Amino acid sequence: EPRVFSGIQPTGAPHLGNYLGALQSWVQLQNGYSSVLYSIVDLHSITVPQDPETLRQSILNMTACLLACGINPDRSCIFQQSQVAEHAELGWILNCLTSMPRLMHLPQWKIKSQKNEGSVGLFTYPVLQAADILLYKSTHVPVGDDQVQHLELTQDTARKFNNTYGDFFPIPVALMGTSKKIRSLRDPSVKMSKSDPQKLATVHLTDTPEDIVLKFRKAVTDFTSEVTYDPVLRPGVSNLVSIHSAMTGLGTEDIVRQSRGIETAQYKLLVAEMVVEKLTPIREEFQRLQGDVGYLKNVLNSGAQQARELASSVYDDVCKMVGFR
Ligand code: TYM
Repeated sequence: EPRVFSGIQPTGAPHLGNYLGALQSWVQLQNGYSSVLYSIVDLHSITVPQDPETLRQSILNMTACLLACGINPDRSCIFQQSQVAEHAELGWILNCLTSMPRLMHLPQWKIKSQKNEGSVGLFTYPVLQAADILLYKSTHVPVGDDQVQHLELTQDTARKFNNTYGDFFPIPVALMGTSKKIRSLRDPSVKMSKSDPQKLATVHLTDTPEDIVLKFRKAVTDFTSEVTYDPVLRPGVSNLVSIHSAMTGLGTEDIVRQSRGIETAQYKLLVAEMVVEKLTPIREEFQRLQGDVGYLKNVLNSGAQQARELASSVYDDVCKMVGFR
């Protein structure tokens, strides 16, 4: 039976890329599917160094953000990955079915291991992601398009398990949001990311209207003042059109047609206003929830309880198939 699963790392407030690439569709999927799980993947976040106190706070903040975006804990199971021990346990079994060369070429490893030394955890990160998904026999995984290769690895891993031990896991499919990859406002050659050191590059869901307007006003574009959509030749303006498109559901061509005669400087402010309007209620609800730590912990605890029930029954079967029982 169909089951939706997805995850997000608790490393700071989610940004516009997370929202348009994933969270927006997470909210919608609650209506189409009866079994939906969203995990705050703290095990993944420590593949690069994290300060413990900051991490503890970020997990609660992420919980508040998900709720503020419209994830409803009565419809979806929201839980913290490390509270369900089977993620790491299944991850180990899947590690033993995965070859080193298969992981070597994945982009996250190539990019992030240049910055740090590159932990073994960072190297096997995508296998843990496969375990997250397969642990619930999930069938649908809503992600942004930077996760396509990780989903392909998950599919390969499921097949590998099925071929080795017998047919068991469904092969999960990615549900891609309508949005393209959202790019940094300071450097459109890279994706918008939580860890970008440039303060003006990333719009967070918790930014004030003034911050948002400032970031869009300073967005890097080029010396042509028309609004056109050409991601290769004009990546900066095209990123703004992508954001506009993902926010409204309008196609990029329609947007370009509508925006004839508007200069890019003006267009930046127009998009900024749209973003402010969308994010203001989210920010306000986030601030309200942040003050209710007891409620946030309740949501996480009851989520973990539900998740554990599903996970332990699947993991039990896996153990039998592998020969542990
Ligand atoms: P994370 O925490 O980096 O991002 C969460 C979601 O946001 C999407 N996203 C973007 N979409 C469009 N433009 C961007 N600039 C952008 N940046 C991020 C991501 O595609 C993702 O959907 N490995 C995952 C977490 C994970 C997971 C899982 C996801 C762990 N286990 C199991 C699905 C299923 C990650 O780092 O996401």
